[in-house]
Amino acid sequence: MEKIVIKGGVPLSGEVQVSGAKNSALPLLFATLLTGGVSEISNVPALRDINTAVKLLRELGAEVALEGDCCQINTEKIQSIEAPYELVKTMRASVLVLGPLLARFGHARVSLPGGCAIGARPINLHLKGLEALGAKIKLDHGYVEATADKLRGAKISFDLPTVGGTENLMMAASLASGETVLENAAREPEIVQLAAALTSMGAKIEGAGTAVIHIQGVESLKPLACRVIPDRIEAGTFMIAAAITGGNILVRGAISEDQEALISKLIETGAEIVPEADGLRVIGAPKVAPVNIRTSVFPGFPTDMQAQFMALMAVADGTSSISETVFENRFMHVCELQRMGADIQIDGHTAIVRVSRQITGAPVMATDLRASASLILAGLAAENTTEVSRIYHLDRGYEKIEKKLAALGANIWREQE
Ligand code: EPZ
Repeated sequence: MEKIVIKGGVPLSGEVQVSGAKNSALPLLFATLLTGGVSEISNVPALRDINTAVKLLRELGAEVALEGDCCQINTEKIQSIEAPYELVKTMRASVLVLGPLLARFGHARVSLPGGCAIGARPINLHLKGLEALGAKIKLDHGYVEATADKLRGAKISFDLPTVGGTENLMMAASLASGETVLENAAREPEIVQLAAALTSMGAKIEGAGTAVIHIQGVESLKPLACRVIPDRIEAGTFMIAAAITGGNILVRGAISEDQEALISKLIETGAEIVPEADGLRVIGAPKVAPVNIRTSVFPGFPTDMQAQFMALMAVADGTSSISETVFENRFMHVCELQRMGADIQIDGHTAIVRVSRQITGAPVMATDLRASASLILAGLAAENTTEVSRIYHLDRGYEKIEKKLAALGANIWREQE
């Protein structure tokens, strides 16, 4: 097993290039299943989750070539419609093959993902939506079996704006007969990119990025050719790295329209955000002011930035409150931050972060993807040495983060446990 070691206290400076967005690349890879032929996706990040998605595509019969950040997918000869448990349990986004396989082949068998560290994460809204499109859904032995002669358009209103549910249903509805309306749809930038990609394949989609999406089903789709948008969560993580170390970093690829909630909160902490030609420059304040946040769906403050922001509040000179409204168990980083000297009290879905004497380095353990990032950020600001173990969580969603941080002047490296 590997760990990451950080000797904190260095103000970071320089510029860093954000990689392609994990949460956009994954649905795009699975959208290629909607048609035969050869699709090409560029700016694909080098991540464990991408490798899992490639493994699943190959398991289904696709031929996949991944060279650098370019991925070629030939989905002419799909021989299986089953996403097995061993792959789905390592990456829940595998459930996104459900919509495409069902729409193209009339049949899909996908393992139920089960819970994960941050919550139960059911897919009931995905299944309810597919049933509305005419699919028959059966659950047996931990698998979802979905069948449909021909999906037909329907009006679907989501109980909550689910990102994966919106993606699955948008893909399935692209090949249904008639019109589908998704109400209370998710509005993330990754949804907008998926809709644009499906449209370039011949789908007819209006309203992506708003709460109501109209999809006019078509007979068939062409292969996909597109470039993945920059990862707004990776960008936000580097923006906080500048703020927490009192540094000055140009985050290349950061797009302000995708980060408005985070930007306004960082400005409240005293950081300066300066838009530049191809990114955002973040200049950390000598003293970090405390700021309250409450996560919510896009365009609200992203739940995927909550753990990282908590690390910043751990070094703030006052009391802040952090409420997590999207997932039921996304405070796993709190006890590790407490071991580094942070003064945090959890009260239900809210964490109260008070001024701590000092954040000092310690051996800590990563528990999930964004919690790992939070511990790295705290280590950058901490006195002396922090060692973060179980960094396989980190490698799921951050491409060579220790190399990118070292290039910004951080004293950070990876070694065997
Ligand atoms: C996507 O997960 C992201 N993953 C998550 O990023 C992100 O945290 C999440 O959206 C919210 O923004 C990918 O895009 C691959 P949801 P997803 O469906 O689609 C409940 C990361 O760190 N829900 O919007 O699974 C669910 O339990 C990951 O990169 C239902 O109840 O999120 C959760 O509480 C972590 N029933 C809430 O909705 C359903 O059928 C949001 O889930 C579906 C969801």
